[in-house]
Amino acid sequence: MLSWDELDNDQTTTPPLGVSSSTSTQHADTSTPASEASAATQALVADARQVASNDSDAIARAKAALDELDIQEGLDELEGTASRVSVDAKQMINCRADLNQLVPFKYEWAWQKYLDGCSNHWMPQEVNMTADIALWKTPEGLTDDERRIVKRNLGFFSTADSLVANNLILAVYRLITNPECRQYILRQAFEEAIHTHAYQYCIESLGMDEGEIFNMYHEIPSVAKKAAWGLKYTRSISDPTFNTGTVDTDKELLRNLIAYYCVLEGVFFYCGFTQILSMGRRNKMTGVAEQFQYILRDESMHLNFGIDVINQIKIENPHLWDANMKDEATQMILQGTQLEIEYARDTMPRGVLGMNAAMMEDYLKFIANRRLTQIGLKEEYPGTVNPFPWMSEIMDLKKEKNFFETRVIEYQTGGALSWD
Ligand SMILES: [Fe+2]
Ligand SMILES: [Fe+2]
Repeated sequence: MLSWDELDNDQTTTPPLGVSSSTSTQHADTSTPASEASAATQALVADARQVASNDSDAIARAKAALDELDIQEGLDELEGTASRVSVDAKQMINCRADLNQLVPFKYEWAWQKYLDGCSNHWMPQEVNMTADIALWKTPEGLTDDERRIVKRNLGFFSTADSLVANNLILAVYRLITNPECRQYILRQAFEEAIHTHAYQYCIESLGMDEGEIFNMYHEIPSVAKKAAWGLKYTRSISDPTFNTGTVDTDKELLRNLIAYYCVLEGVFFYCGFTQILSMGRRNKMTGVAEQFQYILRDESMHLNFGIDVINQIKIENPHLWDANMKDEATQMILQGTQLEIEYARDTMPRGVLGMNAAMMEDYLKFIANRRLTQIGLKEEYPGTVNPFPWMSEIMDLKKEKNFFETRVIEYQTGGALSWD
């Protein structure tokens, strides 16, 4: 429990700025200057609270309300977290240490990802959409199959990123009990907002029917199934009364993390990303493709963060990672892969842009193998070869080496405040 007496004691050991420690020691020898200083300070504070004759009614009521404030309630809420946090006390889930103390870091990788995410900041309006608008509005500019790909993917992604953001904020954030990971989750949540903004920006720029695109996850079965599959895992842990702390509930959180990081962000995005980026490589819809390229770079970091969190939970709670849980996790990734293969067939009934559904199926199996091994499971599609090696190059792209060679803003320096 936090004690004001301890705070007073702390003040006796730290001299105020400009006062030497010897002066401070002399004071300590003579009387009880610290408590006197404290009393004097408290008198000053109390004086500030006095209702003055020129105070408005609103100010007088605010001061009176503070007189009634019971700080004990807030302090009781923090009971058990009063001490300075040590690294050893930090845990990914079910941690009892104070979550408001960011440092010392236990998971340096989480903080580094937060910094990297900030360095990669971008906004959808920076991308030039002029060529896309001209191409989209030219009747023979794109084939029907190419238009279908653009519409289906904007339809899926425009709501999928909201599902991910909602899951993070309404379900996951509360249950991850580590401040540096929460700091990254907050950054990720903002990036999901930027992604939804990017899709909205594309839809608006191209003059599409917004209702048709945003409601596609209700209307098109291959899109609806993926959304419904993810939502099932949000539902289980977004109940405000849900908490971790038992084997069953800890596993439920683990399932959610696998569903969202390994499947939604790790599998469900990959057919669409590949299709749109393939279009950009063929000099079509280059603005939309550039938006997707930035999003893919963010998403690969979200995925890597999620993998690290899942693996850390496994390390700290090895009893959760039993044969049943491994089988469930494998099943989840295989189900997700199957749904994404169905989506590939729906979006590519014929060969288009140098790819077809069979090639995409191979790519998705290759991706599924990666997701399985990243969380310590065995490959289920051994020997699958990546038919689109250029996708890995795009994911690794640094901002200054923009694939489409458009303008890039350096937020790290460009955003600095100037008082001149
Ligand atoms: Fe996203
Ligand atoms: Fe994401």
